[in-house]
Amino acid sequence: MIEMFWPTPVLRDESPWTAAELAALRDFAAERFAHHQAHPQEHGLPEVDTRLRFQHNLFHPRHEEVAPEVWGRFKFWVDDLYRGYLREAYGVRNAKDLHIQARCTPALNEPGMRAQPHYHHTCDHVLCLYLDCGYGRSPPSQRDWAVGDGELILQDPRPMAGFPFWEKVRYIETRPGLVVLHPSRVWHETNPFNAQGNRVLLVVTLRVASHNYCELYTELGSPGRLNRQLDPQPDSQFDPRPTLNLTERP
Ligand SMILES: [Fe+2]
Repeated sequence: MIEMFWPTPVLRDESPWTAAELAALRDFAAERFAHHQAHPQEHGLPEVDTRLRFQHNLFHPRHEEVAPEVWGRFKFWVDDLYRGYLREAYGVRNAKDLHIQARCTPALNEPGMRAQPHYHHTCDHVLCLYLDCGYGRSPPSQRDWAVGDGELILQDPRPMAGFPFWEKVRYIETRPGLVVLHPSRVWHETNPFNAQGNRVLLVVTLRVASHNYCELYTELGSPGRLNRQLDPQPDSQFDPRPTLNLTERP
């Protein structure tokens, strides 16, 4: 189901995965999460404390070779869901012909952790598949709204008039199996995870890589200097293959 949050189309749906498949994806995401600090930050503002923490792509072969059986079907599901979203939310009639690139990142929260306010700057849209939301969670109706428990909070991107902000933010209650897909530049965050266990999800950032003149773009400045600055690490190498454009479906 795609809802219009303010002027923003947001997909929120139940994914088709069985409990066993969600568990397989969860175990894979949690195990791969251990590799998330493989590459230290090499470029960024010196006075900013936050460092890049998630620098891998689970669609990279080095991760896929240890992925569970459901992984191939997961990728095709993401592909279909995103093309359907583009078609329905934006009227992109040739959505099936687009080249789509994607990056998949695991997220694992321990109790007390949260996702700070952020947007995603390298892509067009973000898909989150929630795999584990812990146990011992309080029902939403019994929670202090100022504390919460792992809710996804999306913020209206429009500069606002004199109107209470809390009537403009949208809270999404997360649960295993839920999928949410929204534009990447919308600021969002989560309330702290306040239950027991772990909160695990897969985040797929998606970008349209055709029909948009991106192949005409070139680097500015000296290529030699840029190449040194952006010296790719093995796991963060830009892979020009349209990772979601696969022709053989399982
Ligand atoms: Fe995010």
